[in-house]
Amino acid sequence: MSRPSAISADHSTVCTHPSGLDPTRIPEHIAVIMDGNGRWAKARGLPRMMGHRAGVEALKTTLRLCSDWGIKALTVYAFSTENWNRPTDEVHFLMTLFERVLQRELEALQSQKVRINFLGDIEGLPGRLQELIEQATSLTSGNSGIHFNVCTNYGGRRELVIAAQKLAERSLNGELDPTLIDENMFAKELFTANEADPDLLIRTSGERRISNFLLWQLAYAEIHVTDVLWPDFDEAALLHALVDYQSRCRRFGGLDPISHERLES
Ligand code: FPP
Repeated sequence: MSRPSAISADHSTVCTHPSGLDPTRIPEHIAVIMDGNGRWAKARGLPRMMGHRAGVEALKTTLRLCSDWGIKALTVYAFSTENWNRPTDEVHFLMTLFERVLQRELEALQSQKVRINFLGDIEGLPGRLQELIEQATSLTSGNSGIHFNVCTNYGGRRELVIAAQKLAERSLNGELDPTLIDENMFAKELFTANEADPDLLIRTSGERRISNFLLWQLAYAEIHVTDVLWPDFDEAALLHALVDYQSRCRRFGGLDPISHERLES
């Protein structure tokens, strides 16, 4: 389907882009709400867990394509602070799945120069998973390739509260004048400090919600919702999302640079 054309990306790797994509307008950062694993399994008469397992394969494909196509950061929603409310066996399955995938894929991530990070309340995760996260994060921290951020035990509101608490503490200690707190300073206290905001949010399975994901960072992201269920999300679906993204005129609340018309912000 894709007719690759080699170009040099500005982060010194050689990228290939499928035809139909403008290589000069590739989003730097893509965020994904990977939804629909359960429905995918149900449609096949399988237990929900099989949907999560199939979801890992879709994630591996997406990460590889994003890396090949010159996207600098991919941030995925793997487990929210609300997902603890699922049945105990599903939560346990997911935690064990994360552990197994991390163990199994670490070598491949390393050879692809992926820099993996986990965003969220990591201390609230099972001890073994925390150890693997620490190991994967430190092993890949010097890698020059795509930043792969896995939001695990993550909640957008919780992230904002933690940032506010940190700034309040510094103010109380006399280290910070609260009148100097601005958007840049606030953003540095988020789990995503040092990462540019996502340009594109993809949500699978047709749901039109943000679901407590990256509430601050998605302020100006373009949103692409697809009916494709996450385990079926493949190269064609990613390409479709990117073509959709490239058709948008991003104004960040300003004017259309060509017509100078103020469309809705
Ligand atoms: C939402 O679908 C999916 C999740 C809560 C889990 C996502 C996890 C993966 C894709 C595995 C990722 C693995 C690693 C190592 C990061 P859902 O279960 O809510 O689906 P439904 O809405 O159809 O029930």
